[in-house]
Formats: sequence, C-alpha cells, structure tokens
Amino acid sequence: MPTEKNASTDMSYLDFQAYVDITKHIGGFAATDELLSLCHVAEAREVLYVGCGIGVGATYITRKYGCRVVGVDISEKMIAWARQRAREDKVENKTEFRVADVLDLPFEADRFDAVIIESVLAFVDDKPWALRECVRVTRPGGYVGLNESYWLTEPSPEIVAQVRVSVGSAIPTAVTWQALWEESGLHDRVVKLYQVDSRVEVRDRMRWVGWKWALRGFGRLFRLYITQPAARQLLREMFATPSLDTLRLMGYGLFVGRK
Ligand SMILES: C[S@@+](CC[C@H](N)C(=O)[O-])C[C@H]1O[C@@H](n2cnc3c(N)ncnc32)[C@H](O)[C@@H]1O
Repeated sequence: MPTEKNASTDMSYLDFQAYVDITKHIGGFAATDELLSLCHVAEAREVLYVGCGIGVGATYITRKYGCRVVGVDISEKMIAWARQRAREDKVENKTEFRVADVLDLPFEADRFDAVIIESVLAFVDDKPWALRECVRVTRPGGYVGLNESYWLTEPSPEIVAQVRVSVGSAIPTAVTWQALWEESGLHDRVVKLYQVDSRVEVRDRMRWVGWKWALRGFGRLFRLYITQPAARQLLREMFATPSLDTLRLMGYGLFVGRK
C-alpha cells in the first residue's frame, strides 16, 4: 500500500478501509456528478476511474451513462470488492477492474475519453508523476478530472499530526493542488473549490457506499474491533480529534482539464 503503516498499529488507514469495504469519498454525489459533467462523461465511450476503491464511482458511471469503465486500484482487496459490486449491480459486462499503481498505468497512451481520480492523489507522494500518467492515457481532446480534499485554513500542528497518523498522508492546501494543475499541461482548466459540509458528508457516505454494503461493512468493522487490537488502536487514533471538527477545516476541489 502507498500510505505509511501506522507505527503503533501496523495497519494503514487504507488497509482498514479495504477490510471493512467503506472508503472515504469527499463531497458526496454532488461532487462526483459535477466532476463527471465538467469532464463530459455523458459523451464518453470509455472512462478510466483511478483509485476506484470498492468500485462505487466506477459502477455509478456505468449505470448513469452506459459507457464502459475501467477501474484500477493499488489494493487487491479493493479490486475484489469492486468486482463483487459490479456483479451485484449487474454491470460486469461494462466494467473491468485491475490492480495497478497510478504511477505506472498499464495502458497505452491516448486511450481513454476521460480519466477520473477522486480522493487518491492525497495518498501518493509523487503527485506530478501520477498526474502525468493520467494525462498520458487520456486521448487528445479527452478530459482529466480530479476531486481531492484540502485544508481551508492552516490547521493546528496537532490536527495535522493526528490526520497524518490516522490517514497516513498529509492533506495538501488548495495552493498545492492549484500549482499541480497549472503545471499539468492540460487546456481549458477549471478549478472549483468548496467547503466540506459535514451534514452532507455523513448523509452521503452511507448513500455512496449503499445501505446494504454499509451494513455488511459495519458488521466487519465490529468483528475487527472485537478481534484485532491493531484495529482498536487505529480507530482510537482516528477519532482522537473529533472528526466532524476536522471536517469543518476541510474543503474539496474539483480540477478539470482537457488534453
Ligand atoms: C480514499 S479511497 C477513495 C476511493 C474512491 N476513489 C472513492 O472516492 O470512493 C483511496 C483509494 O486510492 C487507492 N490508491 C492509493 N494509492 C494508489 C496508487 N498509487 N495507485 C492506485 N490506487 C491507489 C487506495 O487503495 C484506495 O482505494
């Protein structure tokens, strides 16, 4: 996994998400819908969804627009969940899920009509390289769209440290993402910055994962909590700072550009 293992628990935030089958997705459906619209996904034949996690975004795109979607993720466990979701959603024939690193995408250049990346690059150290890979596999005239979180205002060092410990990566500021975007080489760049609404986050997290899947996830979370001291420790560290307070300091940005 790309994120640091939590030193005291030996379980990373993403390991934990992969086990319980619930991932972080900032901005809810409103963010994804706006991103897909800015990327003209309605006109796409084939979309790459990078860091697909448990497969919610990838299967959503196929169901909504009918295009073919390829999802990649560095975690085998996430890909297994994504394949299961595609089977249960009956979109197996329109989706393909593969284990791959955004830093080395196993596709020829100029292939996809749109490449969508949501809540992934925050976990990747070499963000410019990751973005170059996404641009490489986009066809000329196609779109690259990013949805990532950022700090609205400089948080206290305690909050930065706590997020780094629990999430296993630092959250950049909007200035960092904007600089990355300006150097992407993409045209017609659009940047939209929003404040995170904690009510939307809580409500939409369940909608995003799906109630049936969320209930199974909570069952796994309960089992993990009972049986794994490492998971108990990680959960304690994740909630050391009330997460709703942390969410109030966060925004999310939609970054779109045309190749
Ligand atoms: C917070 S989850 C977001 C999942 C999904 N995009 C969503 O919004 O629901 C981040 C995902 O990025 C994946 N990831 C992290 N680093 C990656 C890398 N270098 N290449 C591909 N996927 C990566 C993780 O395994 C995880 O599934």
